[in-house]
Amino acid sequence: MSEASPLSLGDERLPALELAFSMVREAWQGFDQARPGQPPPSDQTLSLLSEPLPQTGVGALRALKEAERLLDESLAQSRPRFFGYVGSSGLEVGVLAEALSASHDVNLASLAAAATMVEQQTIGWVGEFVGFGRVGGVVTSGGMISNLTALAVARERALPGSRRQGLDGRGTLYVSVEAHSSIARSAELLGIGSASVRGIPIDADRRMDVAALRDQLGLDLAQGRVPIAVVATAGTTLTGAVDPLAEIAAVCREHDLWFHVDGAYGLPAAATPRASHLFAGIEHADSATIDAHKWLYVPKACGILLVRDPQALRRTFAHDASYMVDADENPVDRTLEYSRPFRALKLWAAFRAHGAQGFRRALESNLEVAAGLAERIRAHPQLQLVVEPQLSIVPFRHLPAKVAIDGLHEDAPEIDAHNAELARRMQDEGDVYVTSAVVDGRTVLRPCITNFRTTGADIDALIDTVLRTGHALEHQGPR
Ligand SMILES: Cc1ncc(COP(=O)(O)O)c(C=O)c1O
Repeated sequence: MSEASPLSLGDERLPALELAFSMVREAWQGFDQARPGQPPPSDQTLSLLSEPLPQTGVGALRALKEAERLLDESLAQSRPRFFGYVGSSGLEVGVLAEALSASHDVNLASLAAAATMVEQQTIGWVGEFVGFGRVGGVVTSGGMISNLTALAVARERALPGSRRQGLDGRGTLYVSVEAHSSIARSAELLGIGSASVRGIPIDADRRMDVAALRDQLGLDLAQGRVPIAVVATAGTTLTGAVDPLAEIAAVCREHDLWFHVDGAYGLPAAATPRASHLFAGIEHADSATIDAHKWLYVPKACGILLVRDPQALRRTFAHDASYMVDADENPVDRTLEYSRPFRALKLWAAFRAHGAQGFRRALESNLEVAAGLAERIRAHPQLQLVVEPQLSIVPFRHLPAKVAIDGLHEDAPEIDAHNAELARRMQDEGDVYVTSAVVDGRTVLRPCITNFRTTGADIDALIDTVLRTGHALEHQGPR
């Protein structure tokens, strides 16, 4: 009889499974009582984290218990009062599907039967949900890799053969000045160079100025440059502004240019009655990035790149490999990655469990909560709404009372320092988690609402905390 592997769990398997699921249940219950902050790691944790490589194991039960404490002492974006960056939610059915998919460890580089079909079906569902159309694409680790993949395809289309021969410095890309830095980073990685990324000015609503785009294209064409793509942002990371997609699509059509939409954060809102008008024109995009681990709520990592002509992916990524000859066409020929987790299953399970309607309602609710927050800010004399929210990012400032009393100008550097310190102090105190950002040179608080658990009560807590902490800061001064 063969011996059991030293890595099998043996008698610990069932208790470990029960323990893990009881810990997930406790975490979910904990998220409902809002502690969004990040307490500093305990002494016990610091001592555990300084241990050398263990030569003998402590067993799965103890390792899982230790892992639970580490997670509890980490910043959990799943909490409803986490408003920092672009948060996520750890959607419950997604968490469970993730555990299931990891247990099967599917290989998606080769044809993986049902799993390969699930990926394509899920991509089709996402395309249909946001109005891009039910087309093809790939599942990625997130917005950065989706944008990089799309721009690799656009580069090969504009300059055929460049994937082999490299670039000659002629290619240019067009984005608004408020596009995500993943575009410049992609340009660097693809040999286009971030110096060839044209930052097009924005209009009063912080959307790409299409007349300026036309001017820049004209200038570049006159100088013999080769435009590769225009990247519109559908929900900028800073303020949630959506570029005018239909107008940009028209420019791309005139110039036969690849039209990519970076909707990593904002594109799910296209499925809502409240915001769909902002995304008119998405149906003309050649490709679109959308992060399911942002505003489709599933746990990280799950990025979707929608591509209208999936063969363009093959033209960009296919290689002959003598170790992969069993099928005529391997899915790896359409992606940047080789080994990939089966990321689509959690989104597939979430759409099956809740339906498009469930998602639409959750998104509408987030948009309503964001509009409610803007309303509360407008109504308070010590709060200043810095940008009218288009989606669920609401940049605002706390104005110290001395602005009114001493007539301090709103652009005074003291107000920037006050808001930066306010964000830090709220993060430390841990009732709500808000990050700061800089809009037009002014430091703002920048709450982003993308969690299905967040309600109006959490917004009340946010306002109360800003006013209370802002007041304390004014009277105590910085620490
Ligand atoms: C508009 C936009 N694009 C791309 C990204 C990068 O996405 P990821 O962090 O999933 O790589 C972000 C991240 O916030 C984003 O807001």
